Amino acid sequence: MSFNTFGHMFRVTTFGESHGPAIGCVVDGCPPHMALTEADIQPYLDRRRPGQSRFTTQRQEPDTVRILSGVFIDEASGRQVTTGTPIALLIDNVDQRSKDYSDIKDKYRPGHADYTYDIKYGLRDYRGGGRQSARETAMRVAAGAIARKVVPALNVRGALIQMGPHRIDRARWDWAEVEHNPFFCPDAEKAALFADYLDGVRKAGSSVGAVIEIVAEGVPPGLGAPIYGKLDGDLAAALMGINAVKGVEIGAGFHAAALCGEENADEMRMGNDGKPVFLSNNAGGILGGISTGQPVVARFAVKPTSSILTPRRTVDRYGNDSEIFTTGRHDPCVGIRAVPIGEAMVACVIADHYLRQRGQVGEPPAWPLLRR
Ligand SMILES: Cc1cc2nc3c(=O)[nH]c(=O)nc-3n(C[C@H](O)[C@H](O)[C@H](O)COP(=O)(O)O)c2cc1C
Repeated sequence: MSFNTFGHMFRVTTFGESHGPAIGCVVDGCPPHMALTEADIQPYLDRRRPGQSRFTTQRQEPDTVRILSGVFIDEASGRQVTTGTPIALLIDNVDQRSKDYSDIKDKYRPGHADYTYDIKYGLRDYRGGGRQSARETAMRVAAGAIARKVVPALNVRGALIQMGPHRIDRARWDWAEVEHNPFFCPDAEKAALFADYLDGVRKAGSSVGAVIEIVAEGVPPGLGAPIYGKLDGDLAAALMGINAVKGVEIGAGFHAAALCGEENADEMRMGNDGKPVFLSNNAGGILGGISTGQPVVARFAVKPTSSILTPRRTVDRYGNDSEIFTTGRHDPCVGIRAVPIGEAMVACVIADHYLRQRGQVGEPPAWPLLRR
């Protein structure tokens, strides 16, 4: 039994813990002849890296990635390309500060996975959380960088659209703004408010949740399969697999329940280029589990960081009532660094379905279809 792998054709396996010597992943199924160097991957890791503003943990991990296998210099072009064999990636852990773990060693942090790891396995790596730590997500981001290259013209972008109770104004959405504030927020005015708000949260030793929206453009129509291979089903599983995620929506999501059929159905018209155009995108680019060619839109909710400075009631692993508060470095809003992680998971799922589609269907049917 292994639960450290996801994807079918584009298959990612991660390994490692925050307090081991390194973390890594193996990306299997990547097509050959694709240009790939560390420089294609590192910028995405740099966006996820901690310690870049006062709003994220002050851990200092350079997260420098090395490609260990699966690439070769193509003599014709002189470029380093994928060979079609497994691509192994490694990141050394350099900031495993030794500290006193006596408080969390035996006590369960409410909201964290300490209790469930103990009742399942009978032991847990309490130094930084082991596999339950989001350190592992660096490898998903690295795999996502490769996935983005698999699908021609794919553009996956993410944005933080809500922090605590504060939502952005969608009328002010500006993708360029996302890279100009420490929150990946597309609304400049709300980003300024987030800064003040999160300063207060951080100084109070507390934490807050967030909602992140991922938009994937350039997704060809026809990706995904009925019933057990639905693109939206796989996206939901992938996003729900990110630490601290408690909800996922596609397109109009939960709001679709409040719409009537006329409002919700995305009407169609023939476009000037001879292809159908949808007049809205409540479906989030997916119908029947299959992509329509519209942008794929997914949203996920991240809960507040559970390691907080405020004392909380808990129990220890020997059956005693106790109290706990977490000292040390943590993100007051883990939703911020979840943005590049969400993008990566969406990219991996789309790359997987792109290769599945190529394998099963090959060339899609010419459109419009022939008259019966
Ligand atoms: C980027 C990122 C960083 C995180 N950092 C912390 C942290 O510093 N402290 C903490 O308690 N949880 C942190 N988490 C959340 C925990 O990893 C997560 O809550 C825990 O593994 C329990 O899993 P669950 O919340 O998915 O049930 C982080 C999550 C993400 C996505």
